[in-house]
Formats: sequence, structure tokens, C-alpha cells
Amino acid sequence: MTTPSAGETYDFVVVANRLPVDSVTQPDGSTGWRMSPGGLVAALEPLMKASDGAWIGWPGAPDVEVEPFEHEGIRMVPIALNEQEIEFYYEGFSNDTLWPLYHDVIAQPTYHREWWETYVDVNRRFADAAARVSDHGATVWVHDYQLQLVPGMLRESRPDLTIGFFNHIPFPAYGIFSQLPWRQQIISGLLGADVIGFQRVADAGNFTRAVRRLFGYETKGSRVWVPVGDSSDATTGDRSHVRGAPVRRVIARAFPISIDATSYVELAKDPSVQARAKQIREELGNPKTIMLGVDRLDYTKGIGHRLKAFGELLAEDKVSVEDVTLVQVASPSRERVASYMQLRDEIELTVGRINGDYGSIGHTAISYLHQGYPREEMVALYLAADVMLVTALRDGMNLVAKEYVATRADLGGVLILSEFAGASDDLRQALLINPHDIEGVKDAIMQAIGMPESEKRRRMRALRKRVLENDVVKWSRVFLEELAGATTAHPVSHEH
Ligand code: F6P
Repeated sequence: MTTPSAGETYDFVVVANRLPVDSVTQPDGSTGWRMSPGGLVAALEPLMKASDGAWIGWPGAPDVEVEPFEHEGIRMVPIALNEQEIEFYYEGFSNDTLWPLYHDVIAQPTYHREWWETYVDVNRRFADAAARVSDHGATVWVHDYQLQLVPGMLRESRPDLTIGFFNHIPFPAYGIFSQLPWRQQIISGLLGADVIGFQRVADAGNFTRAVRRLFGYETKGSRVWVPVGDSSDATTGDRSHVRGAPVRRVIARAFPISIDATSYVELAKDPSVQARAKQIREELGNPKTIMLGVDRLDYTKGIGHRLKAFGELLAEDKVSVEDVTLVQVASPSRERVASYMQLRDEIELTVGRINGDYGSIGHTAISYLHQGYPREEMVALYLAADVMLVTALRDGMNLVAKEYVATRADLGGVLILSEFAGASDDLRQALLINPHDIEGVKDAIMQAIGMPESEKRRRMRALRKRVLENDVVKWSRVFLEELAGATTAHPVSHEH
């Protein structure tokens, strides 16, 4: 491991809430770092390794004050957060205000002024770190809803930089977004970027509408014209300041994220992973159909809706526990946030009831696993699963759907996919469902269970084509090409 020298600066800087590593304690008591699994990490790891870049982020635990270091070819710049910052910035404003608001208020967002103030302070710390480690004219790519103020802060302190922002979660319709007491500051912060990326075309449209409603700036398609030096104090609907003034052009459009598809294809070929898939089937009693759900334990994922559908099918004798079993992996997430604690209680109560009502000594209806697993085990589960259930009520993309498809090189398996997940824009050959329509979910499950092999293969072939052609390497290339082509430091005059 090498230590980057103090004062070192980089051409390409990623800024994300988390570093792509977890701290681990070795058997001898010493501590080290291990690459952590996750959507964003999988998305950026190949790119970071190939470029002379640095990654700024929080190490994921309180008060970790460590110097920048290098791990597996990536230079890490840790940002320390104390207990109160974790509570107010991460658990509070990011995950109890913005997360529910941006996911269509499935849970009630909480608005606290102290949380907002800490969000501003922590965003400032990330922006200052990015300003410190970026070369003159460097490209900085800021990620996600936790850091929406960073682009605006950076543009002020470092107008020489090219700044990209990608929002991994949905961007809500204006009628919902407008609830936010700090809605103008958020839009203004985002408009500091040259390119603002969203998962879906609809998200980008919601954003440009918010820009028009709150600031009155001109937008056309994916282009937004932002008056130079006037991005932070414009008032609602007043466009007089726009006319004739110098403007910067900002691009706001969809760049649907994907996965490192090849790594799933490779793992699916691995004999030990295939053996594990077989073993999973056997351990489950070789049922005719294994259904699988894989989610963070989050209220946006619609886990309760899929349990309800399965429970009703069992109650109506449409399926039996001898023939059909559901494996539900629900990885622990944001466990100190009240809405997540409540969700866990609800889900575990429901699982217990269904298992109690319909299970037998030899057959459990639902194997519920409140744990995270390494990628090898996930791929084995995907290979073992005949039906993959993605029933999100709202989801930026849902990479699990793409991971399942990439894994099934054997063209087996059926994907049931919520139309409220971004992945459904692309994966049209899945069985698309509205998770609120429980009868519709039940019908899709029955259709998947009874689907002829030829139809399964036809659908999976088409799905795989989409995922393999549009992998995460292409996603980052397309985003960075757009960013390289965007007008950066220099004001442009009104273009039309
Ligand atoms: O998709 C949004 C996101 O915040 C990702 O950035 C992250 O990998 C995932 O959800 C898990 O969230 P957290 O970092 O809060 O555990």
C-alpha cells in the first residue's frame, strides 16, 4: 500500500457519501480496508482503477480520522464525520428527509432545521476537500442526494473545474419536491454542475420543471441556461434577470446506470458458484419453483407487497409450500432511522405469520435472511432462482434486476419487475407489474411459474442483450463524454 503525499492533486476526482472500502479488523488485531460491495462501487471501481483519480468519501463509521491512502489502486481521501453529523446529515437529512421525499413520500419525510444546517456543513467539508485535491482544470464527479450542494460550492471556489453530478435515486415531481423548505438551495446547488445526470427521462423532466418553477430560468429539452453569478438568489418566476445577461449552459438528462455485467457472467460460469446454486436448491428441498427477492431492507422496495401476494396465493391454494418457496434476502440498512426499524418489525411479523400459517415441518414458505452476502453467494442465489421478484414502489434504477439478468447466461429464470423501478424503462421483456395491484402481482407470479421454457428463453435472451450492451463501463463513458463536451468555466452568452 502506498500513501499519496500531502498536497497531491488529481485530474479526476469522485465525490460520494461513502468511500468504496470498509474498515476490517484482521485476526491479529490490526485494522485494514476491504473493498465494499454496492451499486456505486461496482459502477465506478473499474473506471477509478484505470484513471489517475481520487475518491473522496466517508469511511462509514464515526470519527475515523485517517490520512489519504491507496487501496487496490484507488486513492482514497477520507472525510471524518462525528456522531452528531452522522445523526443529522446521514440518518437525518439524507435518509429521513430527502430519501422519503425523493421516493414519492412512501414514508413521511421529516423536516428539521438542525439537520439542514448540518447537511450544509458536511456538504461544505466534502466541497472543500474536492477543491483541495483537484488539479487545475480537473474533472470532479459528485454523486447522489447526500451531496447536492457540493456542485454549487465547488463552482464558487473553483470555477476552473469541470463538474458533473449524478443522482442515483429518483427526482420527484414538483408537487412533491416543493414541500422541501430548502428547495431553492438544493436546485441552486445542483445547478453548479455542468452536467446533471438522472436515472430516467422523467427524473430529468421533474428537475427542469423545478428549475423553471423556482427560478424561472429558460430550459429546452436537456438544456438549462443559468445566469452567471445569479444562481443562488433568483426568485420564483422572475425571468427579467435572465434576458441579455451572460449565462452558463447546464445539461440535465438521463444516463441510466448499469452493472459490471461481465463480472456476473464470469461468476455464473464458475463451477464452485454453480455447485453452490445446486446445493441451495437441495437445501430448500428441491421445490419445483424457487422465487427470490434481494433488497436492502427499505420501505421503497415493496417487500411487504410481494409477501402479501405470495401469502394470498398460498391461502387460495394456488401454490403450495411443497412446490413453491420464496427466499427473501433483506440486507440490514439505516438501522437507526425510525421508519426502517418500523419496517423491519412489519416485515418480520408478516414473514412469521405466513410461515406459521402455511409452512410444514419439511417446508418453509419463506426463507428470510436479514444479512448481507458476498457477490459469489448472490450469483449462486440468482442461478438457483426460477423467479426473481423486484416489486419496488419507487426505485432510481434497481441493479438487482440487471444482476439477475446478467447472471442467467443459461437463459433460465423469469424476471418480475416493477414499472416504478428505473430498470423497467429498459427491461421491457420482464413481466412488468404495478406492485400496488396485488392481483396483478399474483397473476404475474402464476404466469412466471407456468411459463413455457421457450418463452422464458426468448424473454431472457432479449433482456440479456440490453444489459450486456449497456453495462456500467458504457454508462460512465457516456456521462464523462457529455461532461467533457459541456461548456465549463467560461460564461456563454444567451444561445438562442
Ligand atoms: O442508491 C442510493 C444509495 O444511497 C447508494 O448510494 C448506496 O449504495 C445505497 O443507497 C445504500 O445506502 P447507504 O449508503 O445509506 O447504506
